[in-house]
Amino acid sequence: MNVAVLASGTGTNLQALFDHVHGSEGISIVAVASDKPDAPALERARVARVPARAFPAEGFPDRSGRDLAIADWLTSQGAELVVLAGYMQLLSEEFLARFPDRVINVHPALLPAFPGLAAVEQAISYGVKVFGVTVHFVDGGVDSGPVILQRAIELPSAREPAEVLERLHPIEHELLPEAVRLIARGAVSFDPANPRRVVIER
Ligand code: GRF
Repeated sequence: MNVAVLASGTGTNLQALFDHVHGSEGISIVAVASDKPDAPALERARVARVPARAFPAEGFPDRSGRDLAIADWLTSQGAELVVLAGYMQLLSEEFLARFPDRVINVHPALLPAFPGLAAVEQAISYGVKVFGVTVHFVDGGVDSGPVILQRAIELPSAREPAEVLERLHPIEHELLPEAVRLIARGAVSFDPANPRRVVIER
């Protein structure tokens, strides 16, 4: 299965995909795209000798024009699954229609709690004692698509976002590659009785 990754930042989740799934079990990362030309994620792709391209907002009339250009490039690279690994832009409906049920995202909270930006800060302000990570399909909403995998961690006295993120990152780096492996294996489907419910065949 050919996988494309969109990332805006550091790209540690992209690196986990390079380290744990790229080149094994029939999975190849064939393209990495970013909205930020200076995203370290693009450099990680170059080191891994994977085609990498930036699509900065200034180069396009609007978001949907940019998203279509990204979709065209990913398609030309043969992408079958699109993984959002810290991609900080909302994708247009037109983009999602090009990869139906084939766009996934990793989010640093136990959805549906704390969607959107600054999820860990939201969770700390709320005073939760349990944090976690969600990998989910992407739909037209903000972090609202069907959940594929989740894992929780108890941090009853956490106060600083940095300390929580330090504990969540290793979980993300396991869960996201695992979701890609499961999808590549054909082990992920939707419950016909409730398409919000993702069924995993292990
Ligand atoms: C991760 O925390 C992910 O959950 C969120 O963005 C962050 C990306 O981190 N969507 P990195 O760039 O992969 O290090």
